[in-house]
Amino acid sequence: MDFLLFGPPGAGKGTQSQRLVDIYKTPQIATGDLMRAERKSGSALGQEFDKYMSKGELVPDSLVEQLLSNRLKQPDAANGAIFDGFPRTLTQAKRLDEILEGLSRRIQAVVHLEVSLETILERASGRRVCPSCGASYHLHHKPPENTNVCDACGHEGLNQRKDDNEDVVRRRHAEYREKTEPVLSHYRAKGIVVEVDGLGELDQVTQNICNALKKLVGEAL
Ligand code: AP5
Repeated sequence: MDFLLFGPPGAGKGTQSQRLVDIYKTPQIATGDLMRAERKSGSALGQEFDKYMSKGELVPDSLVEQLLSNRLKQPDAANGAIFDGFPRTLTQAKRLDEILEGLSRRIQAVVHLEVSLETILERASGRRVCPSCGASYHLHHKPPENTNVCDACGHEGLNQRKDDNEDVVRRRHAEYREKTEPVLSHYRAKGIVVEVDGLGELDQVTQNICNALKKLVGEAL
């Protein structure tokens, strides 16, 4: 099954996608993670991504499409994927429809996680990530077992994301409201959007997403 986690920066898309990977045995495709990996590699493409990401602006559609279609060709995504942070523009949404149609697939559900700007700022300021394996934490809501040590790989030293400072978060949020939120209409017209409150305990939000998906797509899960 192919479905999207949709919402503003800090809504919990990445955190919840990773939980759903285990539940539905479907891989997560997160364009932000793919871009950070490219940036870390030091490639020319990664440097190009950084020009936009560091300012909190969306990367141009033409650069995103290649990244996405390469990822979709990987064998683990042959039967479905959980899209996290993609699509972010109407052009990307329409292109995704075309690519999936070519594979006799379609987006079956869009989980819309909504949270306030105040929550977004609080989550961004407390988020810490492992520079080695990419695992994500929050100083208060999801701290690692040992302070500043990654639970997943044992790396010592967790970092704040470059684009998690307040000015850039506000810019990311403005980009979301202006360019990404309108994409919901594309999916609402197909009757596949489910609304889930992004506030609450992590387990509760996961349960709410699973319940909403079950109601929408039932036995397809
Ligand atoms: P991307 O990496 O996709 O970032 P984002 O969409 O801004 O989302 P975040 O990763 O900040 O938040 P999230 O919703 O995943 O929340 P998370 O689970 O981490 O994109 C970064 C940049 O890349 C963009 O600005 C753009 O430049 C570029 N880009 C990426 N894709 C693109 C595309 N398709 N087109 C163009 N440009 C693109 O949670 C956040 C924090 O909150 C964590 O610390 C977590 O532990 C905590 N938390 C989560 N849920 C809860 C909860 N229920 N209660 C308490 N704390 C919680």
